[in-house]
Formats: sequence, C-alpha cells, structure tokens
Amino acid sequence: MSDPIPESAGPKWWQREVFYEIYPRSFQDSNGDGDGDLPGICQRLDYVQWLGAGAIWLCPFFRSPMADGGYDISDYRDVDPMFGSMGDFSALLDQAHARGLKIVVDLVPNHTSDRHPWFVESRSSRQNPRRDWYVWQDPGPDGGLPANWLSHFGGSAWQKDDATGQYFYHAFLPAQPDLNWRNREVRTAIYNDMRFWLQRGVDGFRVDAVTNLVEDQLLRDDPPNPARGRGKMPDDEIKRVFTKDRPETHEIVREMRDVLDEFSDRVLIGEVHLPLARAMAYYGGKRPSFHLPFNFQLMESLWDCRSISAAIDQYMQLLPEDGWPNWVLGNHDEKRLATRIGEAQTRVAAMLLMTLQGTPFIYNGDELGMQNIRVSRRETRDTRVKNMGSHRYSRDGARTPMRWDSGTGSGFTTGRPWLPLGADTNPDVASQRQDPGSLLNLYRDLIALRQDSPALVAGEFVPLATRGDVLNYERCKSGQRFRIALNLGGKTQRFPFAGESRIVLSTIRDRAGEILSGNGVLRPHEGIVAECGER
Ligand code: GLC
Repeated sequence: MSDPIPESAGPKWWQREVFYEIYPRSFQDSNGDGDGDLPGICQRLDYVQWLGAGAIWLCPFFRSPMADGGYDISDYRDVDPMFGSMGDFSALLDQAHARGLKIVVDLVPNHTSDRHPWFVESRSSRQNPRRDWYVWQDPGPDGGLPANWLSHFGGSAWQKDDATGQYFYHAFLPAQPDLNWRNREVRTAIYNDMRFWLQRGVDGFRVDAVTNLVEDQLLRDDPPNPARGRGKMPDDEIKRVFTKDRPETHEIVREMRDVLDEFSDRVLIGEVHLPLARAMAYYGGKRPSFHLPFNFQLMESLWDCRSISAAIDQYMQLLPEDGWPNWVLGNHDEKRLATRIGEAQTRVAAMLLMTLQGTPFIYNGDELGMQNIRVSRRETRDTRVKNMGSHRYSRDGARTPMRWDSGTGSGFTTGRPWLPLGADTNPDVASQRQDPGSLLNLYRDLIALRQDSPALVAGEFVPLATRGDVLNYERCKSGQRFRIALNLGGKTQRFPFAGESRIVLSTIRDRAGEILSGNGVLRPHEGIVAECGER
C-alpha cells in the first residue's frame, strides 16, 4: 500500500496511537479485596502515559455474575461492584481524557448473561414479549437437538429449558444465551446501550465475538471439519458454515457504525476471528463497518522469519485500499506472548509491533515479558474449563495480575490476589523501569521513536528480501526513511545493506549511532531500526 494517509489529512488518533489492553480484574486493586478495579486503573494512568500508549482498551467491567470473566453481562449500563461504581468510571474517563488518553470499552452484543432481566423474561414463558429476543427453537423432528451446532466452549450449543420445552442457543457457555439479532427490538436496545456509553464520553468500542451474531435461519447442520482432531478447540469437529460470519452480520455492523458516527471522532474495533479474506470484508467497503477489524495474523503465525514475512505480506496484500492496518501480538484469551515465542524473541516482537504500518495493540504485562503462570486446578477461575472438560483450555495463566514491584502482593494488592502472582517467574515494573536495558524501557523507547517519526506512524511499508532469519523492511514518508532488520533466529546473521544508514535503536541497546554501510550483522535474536538517507 502506498502512502495511505494524505499529507493534508494527517492520521486520526486511532491510526496514530498505540493501544494498551487492560484486563481490569488484574491491573490494580485499590481496596485490598484481591480484585483489580477502576480506581486502581486511575492510580496507574501515570504508568500508561509514561509508557507512551495513547489509548486504552478496557475489557468488561459491567455488571456480571462472572461466569465468563465479565463477558456475561447482566446490566449493560452499570459497573459491577467488583470494579467500583459509575462514579469511578466517570472519574477514570475524566482523568484519562485530561491526560489526552482515549478509552475504548468492550461491547458484548452476541449474548447476555442468563441473569440479565431480558433473558429472565424471555425464559419465563413462550408468550413473553421478550421470548423472541433470544434464539429459541423446538426440539428437532426426533425430539432431540434442533441442529448439530456446537458451543465454542464445549458440547452442544443448545440448552433445553424444561419449563417451556424449547432449546435456547449459546455460542459460548449455557450461562451466555445468544441474543436474536434478527429481532429489531434487540438491535434498538443494544444500539441505545451504545449511545449510553458514547454520551458518557467513551472513545469507542471493541465489539466482542461479532462474527457469531447471526445463525442460519433454516437451522442447517454445520458440516464436519476435514481438519478435525488437529485443531486447538473442542468445536474444531465442525466447520462453522451456518453459525458464524453469516451474510446478515455485515448489515448489523454497518448499523453499529452508524450509531457510532452519530458522535464525532470515535472508533469501532471488531473481534473478527476468520480467514483473512473474509476478515477483510469487515472493513465494510463502500459503507464503512469497522475502522479496525482485529488482525490476529501475528498471534496465529508460527514465529519464524518465513512465517512472519508471509503473514505480513498476505495481510498487506489483502488490505482494502482505504483500510488501515492493525497488529495484535497477544490478548486475554491467548497464551502470553513471551511464553508462546520464547523470551529471547520478545524484543524482536516489540520492535516488529512498533515499526509495522498500522495501529499496534499491547496486552498489559506483555511489555514486561510476563510469562504464563501455572494456575493449579484448585485456583482455577476460568469457568469454561469445566464446560470444555480439560484444564488445558484455561486462560487464567495469561490473566494473572500485573507485577508492579517485587514486594508482597507485587504492588497489585494488599489482600489475597484473585489469581496467583507468579512472583518467582515474572518480572516487575519497578525493577524494569530502573534498568535502561530492560524490555519495558525498550517498549517505551520504541513507542517514543514511533510517535516522533511520521514515517513510522503513517509511512509507506516496503518489504525487502528476507535473508536467512532476517526480516527486512523499510518505512518511508516525506523524506524520512527507516530500515528495520530483525533476526528471528538464534544465530548470527549477515545481510547486505544498501547505502549508508545510522542505527537509531537496537534491541540489545548497545548500537545506537553505529553507521551501517554495505553489510549488516545481527546477533542472535537482535533487531535494529536504522535511519537512511534519501534514496
Ligand atoms: C471473546 C472474548 C472472550 C470471551 C468470548 C465470549 O472471544 O475475548 O474472552 O470469552 O468472547 O464472550
């Protein structure tokens, strides 16, 4: 893609800023109950600002029985007491805005909690006016399930309601019944909930599980998956042809965008887990949908030079002409980045994330190189484990509290933390802040370099030939040109370096100012950003 942002327009905030995902229960506890909360996040805004992130994505803090970590909402318009009050949220928003930080919140439209008053009414009788707000079906012709549809979280996606003799559909846990998005009243209700938060000043939404919104009206069975048995999840048995990414979904996302556009300068981000070409359709084309449908390519790729180079290339090739890229390396659903790719590569990953073209997303703790923590069966909190029948599906290991310092409670809590702190294995903010050579300071310096460099924020992305394990590319804009070379392997690599350039940042931190000309050498797991003269 060539120079994507016209000189005159300048990038929008959601193109320019680095996003920082905060998992509220694990960020900072302010009242000693062992659970992170909104006042705790307020206390740590200094840190987010020091790091250089300009936007926060807050995972759910809404009223919830916590069957799925808050992704089971029983009141879209209130704060769960675990996290504080509406007043605390307003204070957080005000303080963030006063510092120039944006706040994007989760919107969970696919399902509610089974304790949401809408579902309680819907379930109460077949005649209830809210019956059609959820996906109810009679038993199939043989008296069994209405279709073979599976839950992402194990087992059938249908749950029998004995009192009324029908089944309801749940793409996730039975405690998360799916809303019926064919029903106009449901749409209006959720759109009004969006307006509720937009009026309060949130800067946008990250829309959860959006490709699950609609299911086939004819109740056709999903076909068997030819690749079954090789997948990571229990529902890999089937291909989600009739239960995911149905054509009607696009119209709904466009309606959500229309609601968002009633307010100025907000952003709509979508959780879109789909093959690349289908994911790209969520930019929307002529009638815009998401500003940023999440790009999970780097999170799902093997971590080697060829795979990463191919993942970037395929994504950039398929990106629509007016689509703005984005990059995600980790989140609250996946294994920790450092655990997935190995500690040695975390610096290379940081440099990659901050120098590709597009909006970067950091998951809290990844900037420290936090590893997955072993959470015993007794300490397990991720309830999907029970439904999925195996501990290996637990997401707890990547959701453990931030380690702020090395004291008891890690600076996270004065009480008993809701998940173990992993103090023996995990680094902490205080010690890394003091160490100029730490991963945390590398992230900070990379972000600062990015934010100061038009070529890195908005410049053209030019791939160069890969050599051995070295991934190579340039970023250029208006006379500024950077060359990035990343060694994705564990051996020293030599590679040709056309022209002369000066290293501005290296992952091992001892090469700034070095002039490269003709040839470059990268030590194992080393990356550099070099500034080149005009071509
Ligand atoms: C999304 C969330 C995940 C949640 C699921 C169901 O994938 O990221 O945490 O369990 O949706 O809401």
